[in-house]
Amino acid sequence: MVVFVSIFWPSPLKKSSKIIGAVYRSELIIEAKHPKENLDKHIYQLERYLSHLSAKHGLITNGKELRIYRRLINGLVLLFSCTTKNLDDSIEQIDKLIGKENLFSAEQSNSDCIHIVYDNQIGARKMKTIAIYHHKGGVGKTTISVNLAAVFSKKGKRVLLIDIDAQANSTFAVGLIKFQFEEDDDLRDRNVYNLFEKTRYEYNFVPGLVKKSHYFNQTEFDVIPSHITLIEKQSDLLGAGSSGLRLARKLALVEDQYDIVIIDTPPSLDIYAQASLTAADYLIIPSDLKPFSNQGMPSVIRFVEQVINENKEGLQKPPIKIMGVLPSKISTNHQYLTHVYPKYRSIISDRYNLPLMSSKISERSALSNCINKTITVGNLNIPDPKSIIEYASEDSSASSSAIEFDNLANEILIKMEV
Ligand SMILES: Nc1ncnc2c1ncn2[C@@H]1O[C@H](COP(=O)(O)OP(=O)(O)OP(=O)(O)O)[C@@H](O)[C@H]1O
Ligand SMILES: [Mg+2]
Repeated sequence: MVVFVSIFWPSPLKKSSKIIGAVYRSELIIEAKHPKENLDKHIYQLERYLSHLSAKHGLITNGKELRIYRRLINGLVLLFSCTTKNLDDSIEQIDKLIGKENLFSAEQSNSDCIHIVYDNQIGARKMKTIAIYHHKGGVGKTTISVNLAAVFSKKGKRVLLIDIDAQANSTFAVGLIKFQFEEDDDLRDRNVYNLFEKTRYEYNFVPGLVKKSHYFNQTEFDVIPSHITLIEKQSDLLGAGSSGLRLARKLALVEDQYDIVIIDTPPSLDIYAQASLTAADYLIIPSDLKPFSNQGMPSVIRFVEQVINENKEGLQKPPIKIMGVLPSKISTNHQYLTHVYPKYRSIISDRYNLPLMSSKISERSALSNCINKTITVGNLNIPDPKSIIEYASEDSSASSSAIEFDNLANEILIKMEV
């Protein structure tokens, strides 16, 4: 049986299809290109995927032509090619090359495990890093960061959430602060601060620090936690000129491992905010659109233009893209939405010349309730936070917020062209 035909054959023909391949225990990678694509241009990329995943065979098609390659030490060798018009006549030959029985030796084939590989899961598209930032406090940065991470991971993205705020609210929100006593604090010595250090222990790099979001969301994602001690340690970093660039450099080392990195930032212009935005490709500025938040916009713009983009230039990276101001904690009151909200929106573009996101996150108690959920164990009330999508599956009053987050995630994916 030629498994890929039955499972994946339609995908090369659909422009919008997200699935481009399958890995059978890293044996076979299938890559589907748009019919207008010339396959010759993609062989080098296919070779990279095969090397990266230690796979032996690669199938590439644009829906008109189909080729099968085998990876050797010094490159790819073409084993087979045909036009898809002749596919029926070639099935037997293809089966011999990459049919399930032939692809695996007897001792390997005791598992039928199939991993679907999405087009952005094998490095075809670069990791995108988004900073959720406004130096105005309480505008919803953390609420947006943790729930976006949840929605993206539900959509099949490989997500890393980084908490760089010493208040550690994202760390709490995803359920990593469950300890009741200081002596049980397992985050004190292993947290995001370690990424700012120059030493080269395992825990100074992303993989050595990652925790799982576990019960926060049905689909887990990776989290680098923060800690209150970030505040006192900040003075150690001030003298070290390049420490603000280390986060960007260390994230670059894992760019094949994640699709989306979300950074929850502190409400300040400090070195942690600087490092976050320097490491980010995109900036989303949550705002309740009220005068106080608006009056902070010019300094956000100056910070980006004068500090962040200069840092990025030093790293030979393009300037950060301001994806937009995201209306957050917006009242659901009908009068407000009809008369005040449209005016507030227009001020952002007219007065501050900033792009506005089309999505909005309304003010709803479900969004604070889901993070503040607890369970009782004996005499203790243990935090048991849930993402809004998880919470909505238990409590229908949360579904409007879950939908808003889904819309926001879709808007972001479109804007990042993912
Ligand atoms: N859309 C919303 N609806 C209702 N409550 C919200 C909403 N967004 C945030 N909140 C609540 O507002 C408070 C501040 O939100 P959050 O912590 O997300 O803001 P922040 O910008 O991260 O704050 P800080 O600047 O202190 O880090 C929290 O109590 C949170 O539960
Ligand atoms: Mg916060």
